[in-house]
Amino acid sequence: MKVAVFASGNGSNFEAIAKSDELRRAGLEIELLVCDQPNAHVIERAAKYQIPVFINKLSDYSNRGAYEQAIIEKLKPLKLEYILLAGYMRVVTPVLLAAYPGRIINIHPSLLPKFSGLEAIPRAYESGDEVTGVTIHYIDEGVDTGPVIKQCKVVRLENDTEESLESRIHQTEHQMYRQVILDLLINRKK
Ligand code: GRF
Repeated sequence: MKVAVFASGNGSNFEAIAKSDELRRAGLEIELLVCDQPNAHVIERAAKYQIPVFINKLSDYSNRGAYEQAIIEKLKPLKLEYILLAGYMRVVTPVLLAAYPGRIINIHPSLLPKFSGLEAIPRAYESGDEVTGVTIHYIDEGVDTGPVIKQCKVVRLENDTEESLESRIHQTEHQMYRQVILDLLINRKK
């Protein structure tokens, strides 16, 4: 199952997927990392796993449609089944959505629809909610909307700092993304 991962920053979710022997054995092939930030740490992570990187800056194009069209041209020969967004900090427009209908998956660090958008973890922490979590979903034209694939709760502990809560949310993300991809791999073989 060929996929591309889109990321803009740190890339811990990208690496959780890339380093998984279980996913590789089950047939996952990460053909490409697409990154819109030339200095992002995720680029070094891709090098570690010999995964090719397409660095594509929005500022090199006159509009978002043209920026995404360049991505589509790059992806076309790869014959991808899915695009996995993993900390990709751009809203996907109808141009890319139409090229991969129902095939673009996103991970978000809250129990959507709560805390959609940016800074979800600090906002959840400040809210004092006893339970937050992680959502993996197919994307549509909205921001952090679209059909939910899986949600997991993360309980806020009494002595949690924002950092300790964030760290458990990220651990949950890494396990969940691997599980969702494994489920996709298993279901397509049926
Ligand atoms: C994750 O919390 C993900 O849910 C959100 O962006 C963050 C990316 O983290 N969309 P990383 O770059 O994978 O470490």
